[in-house]
Parts: sequence; structure tokens; C-alpha cells
Amino acid sequence: MRNPPDEATTPTSRARALSRISLRVAILAIALGAAIAGVLAVQSGSASDAPHEIAQADAVTEGKQLFQQYCVGCHTIGGGVLVGPDLQGVTERRDRNWLISWIENPEKVRASGDPIAKELDAQFPVPMPNLGLTRAQVEQIVDYLATQTGGGAPAASPVAAALLPGNAEHGKELFIGNARFSAGGSACIACHSAGGVGALGGGQLGPDLTQSVSKFGEAGLDAFLANPPTQTMSAVWSAHPMTPQERADIRAFLTQAAVIGRPANTVLQLALFAVVGAAILLVLAQLIWRKRVRSVRKNMVAAARR
Ligand code: HEC
Ligand code: HEC
Repeated sequence: MRNPPDEATTPTSRARALSRISLRVAILAIALGAAIAGVLAVQSGSASDAPHEIAQADAVTEGKQLFQQYCVGCHTIGGGVLVGPDLQGVTERRDRNWLISWIENPEKVRASGDPIAKELDAQFPVPMPNLGLTRAQVEQIVDYLATQTGGGAPAASPVAAALLPGNAEHGKELFIGNARFSAGGSACIACHSAGGVGALGGGQLGPDLTQSVSKFGEAGLDAFLANPPTQTMSAVWSAHPMTPQERADIRAFLTQAAVIGRPANTVLQLALFAVVGAAILLVLAQLIWRKRVRSVRKNMVAAARR
């Protein structure tokens, strides 16, 4: 016969069960804390190990390196329009001071009502972001751009290579982490959702990517992923670059996601998290409770036998 619930309540066993529960809760809390700290570390790491460490070569060489690091995700030199305009000969069509203020802080130039900025913004849907470069770095980049006026061989640019056809299925597997990136990059879903993927556990650190292909264009997205220009993305991917095939697969998946076209709903995600979290806690509590009942019963049986 099953004992009624009063069986359980010797003070020591209740205390033991309670301490077991609080131990598990503590472990859960520590795990959660560690996960959050990890994400924050990725973010702040990107701030600290950003640039500023390039060996002192001459200004043009340094400008070229900076350009490779910060600009090729969105610009080519003689390779055509990407996310932003082709910068070949830009030092001839724009004033040096304008270039310096623009590259140093496009948002400020835009906010000043600058007519060139207005005209460019009307042409290009993605605004050029502030890149946090120092005045000295910007001047080196402009010195380099000044050497890249027509005539000479255009610098190697990511659009030069034709885009590979991608496999959307494999792209999805990469996106959600069922397949691994060959260089060991993390699954996109850790920080992004797209096309409804990631309704449960899709990351919120980065934006929803459902509209990425229409936003950047296929070549633009490929260039962005090959050389991510923004802070967190560059911190995450410069150490583990995707292969061209992996980029193509992701791009194919995101093209498909745009068709499915449903950005994951944040509120719904949070609600689901809460429900799942509560369910896990209930199951845990249940397990602990059952064990406790069993051990108490064992003690009682032993006592009865004595
Ligand atoms: C995330 C994409 C992105 C990155 C990264 C980026 N740009 Fe831009 N850039 C743009 C876009 C888009 C425009 C067009 C203006 C606009 O809409 O903001 C632009 C415009 C410009 C212009 C004006 C071009 C013209 O025809 O007048 C210059 C110069 C420029 N960028 C230089 C740079 C340099 C140098 C870097 C790297 C330090 C850089 N950009 C990084 C997207 C980017
Ligand atoms: C560790 C977190 C993290 C991971 C992993 C990550 N991203 Fe991002 N991503 C971000 C953040 C944060 C941004 C916002 C810009 C920034 O700070 O870099 C972003 C921006 C982007 C953007 C630009 C979106 C826009 O609308 O401006 C694209 C595209 C993108 N990520 C694609 C990807 C793809 C594809 C993957 C997987 C192959 C991936 N990201 C993995 C954090 C991440």
C-alpha cells in the first residue's frame, strides 16, 4: 500500500531534500551565469582586441591593411558596387577633408545634413556604420585610397570570384549547428534567428537574418560573411573564417528563409523559454521528491524490521 504523504516529513529528510533542491538550483544558476558571461566576453573581447596593433610600416601599407580589415566587407576598389560604392578613384571625386570626416564618423556627417551623404544614402539601403577608427588610421586609409585611382590593376576583391551555388539544406544545418564549420566557427543560431528558425533558443545578440539577402544582396552578403566588418561578427569570424562553400550554403539557406519570411517572434520565444524552464524545474523537483519518498520509506521499513 502506498503511504500517505505524511510519511515524508521527518525534519532531517525534509532538510536534506531542500538542500538538494537548492544545490541544483545553485548549479543551474551558475551554469546560466557562465553562459551569459561567455557571451559578454565574446562581445567585450571584440572591443579590446580590435585594431591598433599593426606593426609600424609606412602609411600606405598600413592603410591597405586597415582597408582589408575594415572595408572589404562592403567595398571593392575597381571590383564594382558591393554593399557600398566602388572606391576606385574616390579621392578624385571627393574632397580629402570630406573623406576623412566621412570615414571617421559617417553618422555625424549624415546628421549634419551633408548633401553628398544624402545622395549616397538614397542610393544605398544599408548605411555605412561608424567603425571606431582613429583620425590617424583614417588618414592612412585615405592615403592608400589615393594610390588606387583608375589605371592600375584593381586590388583583389571578393566579388572578383564568381559566387558559388549553395546548398540550402546544408546551409540550414550549419545555421542551426547540426553541421560543423570546418574552421570551427559557432553556429549562427547562437546569436541569430532567421525564417522562423530559432523560435526556441535562437540567439538575440545579433539581428534576425530573415531579410539579409534582400538587405545586402547576394554578393554583398557573401562579402560580409567573408570579412565581417562589424564588431561582434568580426570578433567571432576573423579567427575561424567560413569557407566559400559554407558561405554559399548559408546564403542559399538565407535566400530560402526570406521566402519563408517569418522573423522569429521575440515575445513568443521568451514565453516559450519561461514555459520550458518551469517544466524543467518541475521535473527536477519531481525527481528529487520521489527519491526522498523512497529513501524515507526505506528507513521506515528498516525501522519496522528492527
Ligand atoms: C557595413 C558596410 C560598410 C563598411 C564596413 C564600410 N562602408 Fe563605406 N560605405 C558603405 C555604404 C553603404 C556607403 C554609401 C553611403 C551610405 O549609404 O552610407 C559607403 C560610402 C563610403 C564612401 C563614400 C563613397 C563615395 O562614392 O563618395 C567612402 C569613401 C567609404 N564608404 C569608405 C569606407 C572605408 C574607407 C571603409 C573602411 C574603413 C568603409 N567605407 C567601410 C558601407 C560600408
Ligand atoms: C557570437 C554571436 C554571433 C554569431 C555566432 C553569429 N553572429 Fe552574426 N551578428 C552578431 C551580432 C552581434 C551582429 C550585429 C553586428 C555586430 O555587432 O557584429 C551580427 C550581424 C550579422 C549580420 C548583419 C545583419 C544586419 O542586418 O546588419 C549578418 C548577415 C550575420 N550576422 C550573419 C551571421 C551568420 C550567417 C552567422 C553564422 C554563420 C552568424 N552571423 C553568427 C553576432 C553573431
